[in-house]
Amino acid sequence: MSFLPAEIIKRKRNGFVLSEREIADFVLGYTDGSVPDYQMSALLMAIYFQGMSESETLSLTKTMLHSGVVVDLSSVPNFKVDKHSTGGVGDKTSLILGPIVASLGLPVPMISGRGLGHTGGTLDKLESIPGFNTQLSIDQFIQSLRKDQICFIGQTKEICPADKKIYALRDVTATIESLPLICASIMSKKLAEGIDGLVLDVKFGSGAFMKDPVKSEELAERLMAIARGHGKKVATLITNMDQPLGRYAGNSLEVAECVSIMKNEVHVGPCGYDLYADTRELSLQLSAQMLWLGGAAASVEKAYVLALGALESGRAFEKFEQLCRIHSGRLSELPKSPFRFDIESSESGFIQSMNTESIGVAGIQIRAGRSKTTDVIEPTAGIEFHAKVGDRIEKGQPLFSVYGADQALIRSTEKFLRATTLIGDQKVNPQPLILKTLS
Ligand code: URA
Repeated sequence: MSFLPAEIIKRKRNGFVLSEREIADFVLGYTDGSVPDYQMSALLMAIYFQGMSESETLSLTKTMLHSGVVVDLSSVPNFKVDKHSTGGVGDKTSLILGPIVASLGLPVPMISGRGLGHTGGTLDKLESIPGFNTQLSIDQFIQSLRKDQICFIGQTKEICPADKKIYALRDVTATIESLPLICASIMSKKLAEGIDGLVLDVKFGSGAFMKDPVKSEELAERLMAIARGHGKKVATLITNMDQPLGRYAGNSLEVAECVSIMKNEVHVGPCGYDLYADTRELSLQLSAQMLWLGGAAASVEKAYVLALGALESGRAFEKFEQLCRIHSGRLSELPKSPFRFDIESSESGFIQSMNTESIGVAGIQIRAGRSKTTDVIEPTAGIEFHAKVGDRIEKGQPLFSVYGADQALIRSTEKFLRATTLIGDQKVNPQPLILKTLS
């Protein structure tokens, strides 16, 4: 090795700007195994505290992007467009918007991640479908896009191997909430896909990595600048993660929610409204941005009408079934949890707030996510939300249901989950789902 990892860690720890060479040596050394996990963990923590300049962030993104190949999608006709979210709880829109957009003829080449910290990951959700293989070769990825306009894979040894390793390490070393690390992780994956356009869903609120909307907007601007710098069309929705999205958080439960939405089912909860409405609406809004970027409609409003048509006609669901076949997933065998534990409200009042990050942590406790890189996820584990911020709830009315394969474990979350939700006398108006659009 021609460099000393500890010296680079020390320079970042002491607040110096790292050179492109130092970043490349360290990251590529980690990717090929010559830099061990403990030194990469130390560098990530130093970056977490010291941050990175714009040029360092660009160098990190570039190194991670070129740690593998950039997929050549020139043989796939039409505008290739993808979406990426900065992460949330119950955030499952990719499973709906991918099929919507692909069913309207725009290819969706998606490289997704696994759960990260308290947030869920698209790959873990899809892998809860028995047989669903997210590790397809580049050739299979391209062929699926040519034939069926859709394919969802993970980072591999060939595509973004640096992000594959660093992402898994950040997940378990409390080094996620760093603007440069998030930018490099997202953009290296997305630029490796060979896309023409990207829609970003940048979250703020108690369940987001960036809690403050101003910080989220700063993250969005940085992500968009990198995308534009690489010649991609880009649009961003800044969206609310002050409460979980939709009815469920947890892998097979979220797939089931998406299937219900694509089958145009509704689920009216105890508070009298459809608990699928927010997932459905955000999926449509993001689809509209993707379709508009790809030139499928002259305005976002017209693109929304197209997306709605694909959903209501069942074409999006047909495309989702096709996606499962591409990846050898047996959707009809989607597993259901053997146990369910209901948590009822201990008081009457209005839901004032939900600590969404803690709800995501409860998900890790019941094994819907990982606490160590080697943890194996229980695909059926998860949480159902019967009420949301602003709802009037009576004592004894259901608040949460917890699902999983270990009865004692799901019961053990009761006290922790109760503490996530504040109930009071004051009527509260929940914030809108979409705060801002940047394009
Ligand atoms: N999504 C990613 O792919 N990476 C991050 O760091 C955060 C969200």
